[in-house]
Amino acid sequence: MIDDLWYKNAIIYSLNVGTFMDSNGDGIGDFEGLSRCLDYLSGLGVTCIWLQPFQPSPFRDGGYDISDYYGVDPRHGSSGDFVDFTHQAKQRGIRVIIDLVVNHTSDQHPWFQSARADKNSRYRSWYTWSKTRPKDYRRGMVFPGVQRSTWTFDKVAHEWYFHRFYEFQPDLNTENPDVRTEIQRIMGYWLQLGVSGFRLDAVPFIIETQDSGKRHIRRYEYLTAMRDFLQWREGDGILLGEANIVPEDDVKFFGDEGDRMHMLFNFYVNQHMFYAFASGDVRPLAKAIQATQAIPEYAQWASFLRNHDELDLGRLTEKQRQLVYSRFGLEKAMQLYGRGIRRRLAPMLSSPQQLQLAYSLMMALPATPVLRYGDEIGMGDDLSLRERDSVRTPMQWSDEPNGGFSTAKKTILPVIDDGVWGYKRINVAAQRRDPNSLMNWMERMIRLRKECPEIGWGTPTILSTGNSNVLGMRYDWRKNSIVTLHNLDEKPKSIRLNAGIEGGERLVNLIVGEHSRAEPDGKHRIVLEGYGYRWYRVGGLNYILKREKY
Ligand code: NOJ
Repeated sequence: MIDDLWYKNAIIYSLNVGTFMDSNGDGIGDFEGLSRCLDYLSGLGVTCIWLQPFQPSPFRDGGYDISDYYGVDPRHGSSGDFVDFTHQAKQRGIRVIIDLVVNHTSDQHPWFQSARADKNSRYRSWYTWSKTRPKDYRRGMVFPGVQRSTWTFDKVAHEWYFHRFYEFQPDLNTENPDVRTEIQRIMGYWLQLGVSGFRLDAVPFIIETQDSGKRHIRRYEYLTAMRDFLQWREGDGILLGEANIVPEDDVKFFGDEGDRMHMLFNFYVNQHMFYAFASGDVRPLAKAIQATQAIPEYAQWASFLRNHDELDLGRLTEKQRQLVYSRFGLEKAMQLYGRGIRRRLAPMLSSPQQLQLAYSLMMALPATPVLRYGDEIGMGDDLSLRERDSVRTPMQWSDEPNGGFSTAKKTILPVIDDGVWGYKRINVAAQRRDPNSLMNWMERMIRLRKECPEIGWGTPTILSTGNSNVLGMRYDWRKNSIVTLHNLDEKPKSIRLNAGIEGGERLVNLIVGEHSRAEPDGKHRIVLEGYGYRWYRVGGLNYILKREKY
């Protein structure tokens, strides 16, 4: 049987057009610049690009405050440049998904401008209003410490409006059928221009009711409706949802029948991974993987290490969170919103070995990996920038001025230009020349991950390694099995492992030539170096013959 679910074995790369490559020297990245980098991404092995918002916006929240859903911000180019980009990506077999930010608009959006100015405007009911100050107006902020309320008095409308995020992001009233129709139109528009789906922003908030004083109820059916529409328009289009939820709710977001989100970011596992990096103890991570395992057949997790936001630790216990802070974000300047850390991955981890271990582990999770631009070369952060801008500095291409990102004097955000994380030391050009660089290692790991579809498609089993520092996993799919081992501790560990499957006495190492044969009792004796990792295929190398098409 041919199962054509491309997202199950994809390599997703997320980037911001504005900080990737500037082709016209105005200091802001654009589609033309991005198009010129497609061969780079293709060489890295990326199969799908997730573009963060690039539509016209006042850019007060990194573009997540859209003022026109049907266009490209002129700073990034034209709609023509966008179509040219998706076309060129397609030529290289790369799909494009884009952010769909419909929980809220910018307060500069003409809909909101009209809604606030005129009670009788057809857009008035597109937002949520209250004549009096709601009692809970200081509750439920997503950015505590920076955001002051969730309801703000609008001087033009003379009423209060609801905003889950910053006050310049009024929430759309998605219970209003006209708003839903408009959202469909937005989806249809971008699908027509060549995208393969959407990263749906703020999913829990899109579907929750907004009445003040009442408990917010989630209307999950709306996700089914969105999915239906998407699938009618584009059979293989996907919805990748951003929802930092507890495992009990997973299936509600995926849908019992797998008829809501195709994919969700696994925030729960992400946070437990960081706990494992901080403590060396893999047991809570193993539990988190198990807790998120029961999902419908066509559903898929997206795994990631860092993204463009803070590393949110809100789902860990207080004790676990404090341990992660103490290892990775001790200084106040590194912390954000009372729940997270605003750093890139490389500066947090202690050594190149731990960094590689982290990526190997992330790619070995039962999920589709999502990489963040710059992480393939181990870019650093700039804590002098505000809030999450610390992790959004321009891509470092070379040791030329501005890291080769732009020829302008001033760039949209400063390029990291000094110290160990500066572009003179960390850049694509230098790493390309060095066979041992993180970038070349990453390219090889991506190739390996793509050659192991068992991980994206198969059934995962946590294996007993007898050691709380070593996570063992096996994936079975269509007569083939993969075994991975990850030692989260800095010291070497010796383990005994029963692969637990027919043929498991012979493990073929997929990275170096050190294969393993079980001892007479059926167990392997494997010594992993500090932060060591192994990827094995069970049985022989003849798996290609055994493999069915997918
Ligand atoms: C989630 C996005 O990842 C974040 O960057 C943004 O600020 C909020 N949603 C609001 O759109």
